[in-house]
Amino acid sequence: MRHVLGAKQFTRPEVEALFETSRTFEEKVKGGQVLDRLRGRIMATVFFEPSTRTRLSFEAAMLRLGGQVISTENAAQFSSAIKGETLEDSIRVIGAYADVIVLRHHEEGAAARAAAVSSVPVINAGDGPGEHPTQALLDLYAIYREKGRVDGLRVAMVGDLAYGRTVHSLAYLLSLFRDIHIDFVSPPETPVPDRVLAYLAERGISWSRETDLARVAAQADVLYQTRIQKERFPSMEMYERAYGRYVLDPSLLGRMRADAVILHPLPRAGEIDPAVDADPRAAYFRQAAGGLYVRMALLCQCLEDAGQAYPEGSEA
Ligand code: CP
Repeated sequence: MRHVLGAKQFTRPEVEALFETSRTFEEKVKGGQVLDRLRGRIMATVFFEPSTRTRLSFEAAMLRLGGQVISTENAAQFSSAIKGETLEDSIRVIGAYADVIVLRHHEEGAAARAAAVSSVPVINAGDGPGEHPTQALLDLYAIYREKGRVDGLRVAMVGDLAYGRTVHSLAYLLSLFRDIHIDFVSPPETPVPDRVLAYLAERGISWSRETDLARVAAQADVLYQTRIQKERFPSMEMYERAYGRYVLDPSLLGRMRADAVILHPLPRAGEIDPAVDADPRAAYFRQAAGGLYVRMALLCQCLEDAGQAYPEGSEA
């Protein structure tokens, strides 16, 4: 059994194997094949925070693989958490009903707490300002698909780098590759955490903190824009100081390389002008679409490791 708790747990060969499986699933689904590698298996999605992409793509992934889904959305209000049940007690019980648990929670470290008591694999679907490893995997899959490689790329990460958990997980995954440079561009209110920078330094990854987005964007192979996470700020004044500082609009787009790629984990909240959407470099909706296949591959891997998946090639 293997939990998915953070991006640092992955090796490069594991990531590459996962993407090979993701590509295979993408071809099969787009080719109209009906799959049943996870027939008879049940996934529980337990979401204490709102979600569109993560929850629905995990649920679609399970259904595409022939499995079934049980779900609690807005678990803080509509599960027994409202009556005072601890996360640990909820997870112990849900593990008796499901073969895998996908958990989103507002507290950093919640997925690890859940995994510590769970009888089935736990997948971290975002733990407060901590990590969002499956988003980072699909971000990296988008980079592979759009650029054909990861080694040697210059990646700009822009926006809320403090509370933006996808940034932390993606930085960790990028550290598996060679000749990467990361430019971090954020308002002073939301700097990238020192723990992320220390990890990159340990792994010999080159990075810089920048303030001039126009200069950074002109050099970037990949521009990873993020939302200012209003819900995590200690005060509205602080949020308002950070909001709107770095916006990708057509004038900035005009300064970018012709072969650059623009990504965003979504949802966006004003930091990419919709006028950018029609540009072929705007890959964020293709990125979100690819999440389905990465999550299919991840569910198969987790349940295979737990002895719960049918072997490859046994599809209906
Ligand atoms: N990127 C992401 O996690 O989106 P949702 O919050 O909609 O799941």
